[in-house]
Amino acid sequence: MGVHFLLVAHLLIVVEMLAWACLPGEYKTNNICCPMCDKGRFVKAHCTLESSSSTCVLCGPSTYMDHANGLTECFRCKDCDLGAGLVAKLNCTFTSNTVCECTAGQFCQKEDCDLCRDHTQCPPGQYVKKPGTPRMDTVCEKCPPGHYSKEKNSAECSPWTKGNWNNGWTTRYRLFFTSTRKRTSRSRQ
Ligand SMILES: *[C@@H]1O[C@H](CO)[C@@H](O)[C@H](O)[C@H]1NC(C)=O
Repeated sequence: MGVHFLLVAHLLIVVEMLAWACLPGEYKTNNICCPMCDKGRFVKAHCTLESSSSTCVLCGPSTYMDHANGLTECFRCKDCDLGAGLVAKLNCTFTSNTVCECTAGQFCQKEDCDLCRDHTQCPPGQYVKKPGTPRMDTVCEKCPPGHYSKEKNSAECSPWTKGNWNNGWTTRYRLFFTSTRKRTSRSRQ
C-alpha cells in the first residue's frame, strides 16, 4: 500500500509538471509563462497577465549572455589574469565570454587556466620536435646518432661532416683545423 501511495504521488507530480511546463522559448515566472529574451539580452521586466511580452535589454558593459534566457542580469565577463601570464585571445562580446590564453613563450594545459608556465628550452644536442603552443609545452628530442645541434631550440640537427665527400671544403677545413691544433699543442709542450 505504501508503494502504491508513492507511485500515485509521483504520478501527480509528473502530471503537475507537464501542466505547468512552458513552451520551448518560454520561461515560467510568477506562475505564468513569459517569452525568453534572446542571447545578448536579459529580462528587464517579466511579462504579466496584461502584457504578454517580456521587456528585454542589451547586456551592459563587461557582461554577456550566451543563450536565450529568463534571467534578470547578464553574466560578468572573465578578466584574463596578466600576472598569471594570461591575455585575451577573444574579447568578451554581448553574447560570449572572454577567452584567455597564455602569452607567447608560455603554456597551460588546463582549459580554464590559472597559471601559465614557460615553454621548455631544448638544450644543445637536442632539437625542437614540436614547437610549444599556448596549450602545449615544447617537445624536444635528442639528435639522432651522427648528428649535433649547437644552439638551444635548434629546429634541426646537422650531420657530422666527417667522411662527407660531397662537402670537400668542410672536410679540408676540418683536416686543416685539426692538424693546426695538433701542431700548436705539440709546440706548446
Ligand atoms: C581586445 O580589446 C582590446 C581593447 O579594447 C584590444 O586592444 C585588443 O586588441 C582586443 N583583443 C582581441 C583579441 O581582439
